[in-house]
Amino acid sequence: MKSTSTIGAAAVLLAAPSVYAGLINYPPIPEDLTTPYQQRLAVYGPGAVSVGWNTYAYQASACVKYGTSSSNLNSQACSTINSTTYASSRTYSNVVILSDLTPATTYYYKIVSTNSTVDHFLSPRQPGDKTPFNLDVVIDLGVYGADGYTTSKRDEIPTIQPELNHTTIGRLADTVDDYEIVLHPGDFAYADDWYEKPHNLLDGKDAYQAILEQFYDQLAPIAGRKLYMASPGNHEADCTEIPYTSGLCPEGQKNFTDFLHRFGQTMPTAFKSSSTNTTAQSLASKAKSLSNPPFWYSFEYGMAHIVMIDTETDFPNAPDGQGGSAGLDGGPFGTTSQQLNFLAADLASVDRSVTPWVLVAGHRPWYTTGDSSSACTSCQAAFEDLFYEYGVDVGIFGHVHNSQRFLPVYNGTADPKGMNDPTAPMYIIAGGTGNIEGLSAVGTVPSYNAFVYADDYSYSSLKFLNETSLQIDFIQSSTGNVLDSSVLYKSH
Ligand SMILES: *[C@@H]1O[C@H](CO)[C@@H](O)[C@H](O)[C@H]1NC(C)=O
Ligand SMILES: *[C@@H]1O[C@H](CO)[C@@H](O)[C@H](O)[C@H]1NC(C)=O
Ligand SMILES: *[C@@H]1O[C@H](CO)[C@@H](O)[C@H](O)[C@H]1NC(C)=O
Ligand SMILES: *[C@@H]1O[C@H](CO)[C@@H](O)[C@H](O)[C@H]1NC(C)=O
Ligand SMILES: *[C@@H]1O[C@H](CO)[C@@H](O)[C@H](O)[C@H]1NC(C)=O
Ligand SMILES: *[C@@H]1O[C@H](CO)[C@@H](O)[C@H](O)[C@H]1NC(C)=O
Ligand SMILES: *[C@@H]1O[C@H](CO)[C@@H](O)[C@H](O)[C@H]1NC(C)=O
Repeated sequence: MKSTSTIGAAAVLLAAPSVYAGLINYPPIPEDLTTPYQQRLAVYGPGAVSVGWNTYAYQASACVKYGTSSSNLNSQACSTINSTTYASSRTYSNVVILSDLTPATTYYYKIVSTNSTVDHFLSPRQPGDKTPFNLDVVIDLGVYGADGYTTSKRDEIPTIQPELNHTTIGRLADTVDDYEIVLHPGDFAYADDWYEKPHNLLDGKDAYQAILEQFYDQLAPIAGRKLYMASPGNHEADCTEIPYTSGLCPEGQKNFTDFLHRFGQTMPTAFKSSSTNTTAQSLASKAKSLSNPPFWYSFEYGMAHIVMIDTETDFPNAPDGQGGSAGLDGGPFGTTSQQLNFLAADLASVDRSVTPWVLVAGHRPWYTTGDSSSACTSCQAAFEDLFYEYGVDVGIFGHVHNSQRFLPVYNGTADPKGMNDPTAPMYIIAGGTGNIEGLSAVGTVPSYNAFVYADDYSYSSLKFLNETSLQIDFIQSSTGNVLDSSVLYKSH
């Protein structure tokens, strides 16, 4: 999200930037150029995990050693694709896929380098495993420190250096054994807000890259340890978020370029069906062929089928698409209707006896508090009927910088059954995790809103209790206090 007042602030700063020359906050380049940074894991398929990382040099061979004992990493997998980079980037993205993993098992892994350490992760639960698990949702999370924000000055330009006590990342680190997987549907780093910092104004191209490097270094203790699922937001589109100025960006910083390099090979396509129903199998195979990670895809984890959608491009009047309302001119990334055809086939393919819970996560919401401009009406027109028709349980969104929970609702009308076996999806917003733009005011609250919080940074934690009960909590990042807790009952 972007408030228009910052445009004026940037214009004032642009007038006298000379004293700030040479202050771009690039992290130091290590002596050993094989050193892995910005580690990120993801569910890549049933029994498969992708390991992504960046290096300060091209790697002719990218490999990961792994095993179920930290002292015996007896397997090794290597990349089938080379390190990739783009013109203004100092780093190269690498990815290795680990397959045939035993489900829900701790694996130790070491990215092969003369300067790396052993870390570990829990492999994905098999589709249909009904063991309870927790999933955290963080959206709209920006860099912390001199180029971003601090915990104390939420609405001012901060001046302190990054620490892992960045409130939301710090809380995810402190509670690392309490959740198995993280969803992050859009808005990473806020590198495109580089112009908010006077010291960055002389060299936006490098400032943008420096913020990305810092942010993904800060995220690595979480994303390198937990399955961390990414999809796009408006801040991935282009190196400047000021509407209609995307012409100021060099070519390599437009059109979701960094996002594609970082996550394009690490996110999964839709899974092959684990249903015995042949109709479900053929619909899942259609969904797989139409999926387009990291923009739109789905995966299964235990009792959940989770779809990640792209609310930025690739549907009629998409805000970040060519000629879209945000003026960011991104995409398209698929053929006409590919994303919507994917979503219809994917949702229709779900066998609820295998994965009773169906969640869809995207960036821009259509149900939100605040002024009407915060609601993405073209997203609603494209997606809401599909959610309703196929019985999506929860829609997960961000973009508005606070926490919100809505009662089950369809077409602006609350479901009369409320949380007790509704037909309509319920919706949450988990955009209050913290970034340079600050928190969004609560504003107008629709009657079907059940909770809204904008006083401090916060995020959401979903607890899959069993096949019929899903608990949704909102957590205050600085304290760990539960701000709101509700249970959705679905007979499925
Ligand atoms: C080894 O990696 C660490 C970061 O993990 C880095 O701080 C250090 O500079 C690296 N050492 C060399 C020799 O590059
Ligand atoms: C990777 O790079 C090497 C050396 O430049 C090249 O020979 C090889 O074809 C590349 N592999 C792929 C899959 O692009
Ligand atoms: C972050 O941690 C450092 C070192 O532990 C501490 O000095 C600093 O005050 C903390 N910052 C915030 C904002 O909590
Ligand atoms: C098989 O799946 C299709 C589509 O999901 C569904 O309409 C149909 O009822 C299922 N058939 C059986 C026997 O479960
Ligand atoms: C953005 O990238 C996609 C995929 O490479 C491409 O099809 C599309 O034309 C690009 N859009 C722009 C505006 O360059
Ligand atoms: C949605 O609500 C609007 C009025 O708010 C109504 O005109 C429209 O027919 C409704 N659409 C559906 C599909 O119920
Ligand atoms: C599911 O969990 C809820 C909340 O703990 C509990 O009340 C309910 O009995 C459980 N249902 C089943 C079928 O185990």
